[in-house]
Amino acid sequence: MSPLKKILILCSGGDAPGMNAAVRAVVRSAIQQGFEVFGAQGGFQGIIDQKIIALDSKDVGNIIQRGGTILQTGRCPAFFEKTTRDLCRRYLAEMSIQGLIVLGGDGSFRGATILEKEGGPKTMGIPCTIDNDIVGTEYTIGFDTASNTALAAIDKIRDTASSLGRNFLVEVMGRASGAIAVDVGLAGGAEFILIPEVSNSMDLLIKEIQRPDRHLKSSSIIVVAEAGQPGRSFKIAEEIKEKTGVEYKVCVLAHLQRGGTPTLRDRKIATLMGYRAVELLSQGHSSKMISVQKENIIAVDFSGLKDSRTFSEKELLHINTVVS
Ligand code: F6P
Repeated sequence: MSPLKKILILCSGGDAPGMNAAVRAVVRSAIQQGFEVFGAQGGFQGIIDQKIIALDSKDVGNIIQRGGTILQTGRCPAFFEKTTRDLCRRYLAEMSIQGLIVLGGDGSFRGATILEKEGGPKTMGIPCTIDNDIVGTEYTIGFDTASNTALAAIDKIRDTASSLGRNFLVEVMGRASGAIAVDVGLAGGAEFILIPEVSNSMDLLIKEIQRPDRHLKSSSIIVVAEAGQPGRSFKIAEEIKEKTGVEYKVCVLAHLQRGGTPTLRDRKIATLMGYRAVELLSQGHSSKMISVQKENIIAVDFSGLKDSRTFSEKELLHINTVVS
């Protein structure tokens, strides 16, 4: 039986498909370990607003296959103010919450660890973001689903592109990381992949389009990472037209990629991570993030986690150029 009695779970930051599978795993594993489980609605704001609900096994039935999060999520800048955290800490102490499991990104984990250092509950983080860009883990929940959603969209666009002999820029998400763009581009047969990690991407793209043998292509798809500027593909299309005379239509996939039924991979990893987070908390561990390393589900310390992991396997871009 765990030395802790009550734990709280919350989702923070952008939603990611697979969060529900993690919520389910946490709740059921925790009940099994003898915890009482509570959920904060809408992330850290739910603690501030005292929107905390009890969760039992039945409450998380039939959610493993659902995208989004039944707990709702949110970004909460107020939590970075000490006065707000003090209020939250006192409220959680009154409720006798001794453990906190946060589903989200590094910013959310940082907030939770600061609260722990100030005397708040023991914390565990479960990495969830479609961007797959959290330092300390090779995988984040949501990436596989979002990538497959984008890939399915590209396959559809390819049908119309090839039928009418057109070119398309397909913009996928990824605030600071080209991880989605590279995987989707490779698997979707993109002519070129434009990511924020390569600073001269645009020059390389123009060169590619101006290749003498390019007229052999009757249609083409270029995958563009959003890179914190949603809709930037419209400008890119204009620039391509100006510099090469070649016309590209634009399709911005945006938030479509955040929804939908989570894939097998996301459900499985979410389930294993949820289970492991509870196991470690019940063994007295804290201030850790659950992580995937070489297919193993382990835990790493929060401390030392830097801002975000950028895409580094540049060889994949080279391979894509060769095969496209
Ligand atoms: O971090 C996940 C993500 O979906 C990014 O890919 C994207 O840049 C950002 O969130 C969009 O944020 P919002 O949902 O606030 O528009």
